[in-house]
Amino acid sequence: MYLGLDLGTSGLKGVVIDDAQKIVAEATAPLTVSRPHEGWSEQSPADWIVAAETVLNAIPARIRAAIRGIGLSGQMHGAVLLDRADDVLRPCILWNDTRAHEEAAALDANPVFRRLTGNIVFPGFTAPKLLWVKSHEPAQFNRVARVLLPKDYLRLWLTGEHVAEMSDAAGTSWLDTGKRDWSDELLAATGLDRGAMPRLVEGSDRSGILRPELADRFGLPKGVVVAGGAGDNAAAGIGVGVVKAGQAFVSLGTSGVLFAANEGYRPAPATAVHTFCHALPGKWHQMGVILAATDALNWFARIAGSASADLTEGLGGLKPPGKARFLPYLGGERTPLNDASIRGAFIGLEHDTDRNAATRAVLEGVTFAIRDCRDALAATGTKIDRLLAVGGGSKSDYWLSAIATALGTPISVPVAGDYGGAFGAARLAIMATTGAGAEIATPPSIAKTIDPVAALTGAFDEGHARFRAAATAIKGLT
Ligand code: XUL
Repeated sequence: MYLGLDLGTSGLKGVVIDDAQKIVAEATAPLTVSRPHEGWSEQSPADWIVAAETVLNAIPARIRAAIRGIGLSGQMHGAVLLDRADDVLRPCILWNDTRAHEEAAALDANPVFRRLTGNIVFPGFTAPKLLWVKSHEPAQFNRVARVLLPKDYLRLWLTGEHVAEMSDAAGTSWLDTGKRDWSDELLAATGLDRGAMPRLVEGSDRSGILRPELADRFGLPKGVVVAGGAGDNAAAGIGVGVVKAGQAFVSLGTSGVLFAANEGYRPAPATAVHTFCHALPGKWHQMGVILAATDALNWFARIAGSASADLTEGLGGLKPPGKARFLPYLGGERTPLNDASIRGAFIGLEHDTDRNAATRAVLEGVTFAIRDCRDALAATGTKIDRLLAVGGGSKSDYWLSAIATALGTPISVPVAGDYGGAFGAARLAIMATTGAGAEIATPPSIAKTIDPVAALTGAFDEGHARFRAAATAIKGLT
């Protein structure tokens, strides 16, 4: 048996699979985000450990006793700052925290960053956060002995080792993404050196062994292998079998991601597309990332006083986009805008805008933002013919039908089950434990395929043009 642990933003999920990759146990523990100031988003690493303990305890003892390997997946880009004793110096600054936008712009203005990392230095990435801490919390900065990504802090707890893997490391702005190694030059530009960085492994490699005390405490065998794992998007790519050029998936989670696998390293930073290492040796991937997908729907659901599922359930068949337009930039935007200060908007409201019309506008707004990501990927030459859908938002057929129509691409929905980061991490655990490779990252069985609604293609093209116009019009408004 193999355990995948996915440290998400809203919860930590554990999935156990058997040798045939059948899910035999699942458990989750919720996590909350603290937003003490505008643009801030933080979590306490101690809460992740409590969540991991809860998840481990919720897995039946007889299954725990048969676990041979553990894989880790996690929210990317967060900065966990440790002192020399591995004590956490401050709350982790998360991927969707935009406080370091000035520091990010300063680093991005130095051409070496785009040249070596293949990416814009986005405010949510790790390096600018360290610069922010350096100027706002110098005493803490001076005590930083090691910087870890969120899931790598869980690994430290599990194995006692400081290790990162390529896919997540590529989101720090310190990795030479083509060479798959830390860059001394980029680290020096942030006032750090290699000594502050964890050792690097590939996602499918072994990164350490479960500490004997934890094996005893949770009833796991001795010698359980802990795989490198992956950032949550690359792990989901492994989970849905997106490992070869031409394969792609759309993830509707807290953030929204349009992810395509590439055979080689194909950086195109000017498009605001992310180009990162994949979780398998010698493979890379590209993705467009929007900061609020289900986050936008959940925000609206809170205001409407309803559960998100209730809002989307009664929408019926796909309708042409209405007058009401929604821009999902609740915390700024990455692809294609790279704008930390832009904020969301509802425009075109009228007396007829009822709850269903406003819900459709929210789903359409996220849909059009994903179409922007598709256009950005297309500008780099990456073509997507077919998509798989994952994440909580993929439960809404209305939403998938809107995305299929706006992109002109059929969307396949896997049979019930979890194919996200936790499942992908469990597959990486199989690889690290048994020496298996990409061949075990097969695509899931498909429950249904949602085709574009041809009669509405024109209306969605027009809706997207109106969305783009609105995004341009609100730029600079505060
Ligand atoms: C990717 C990104 C998000 C987080 C969400 O660049 O920031 O998808 O990984 O967990």
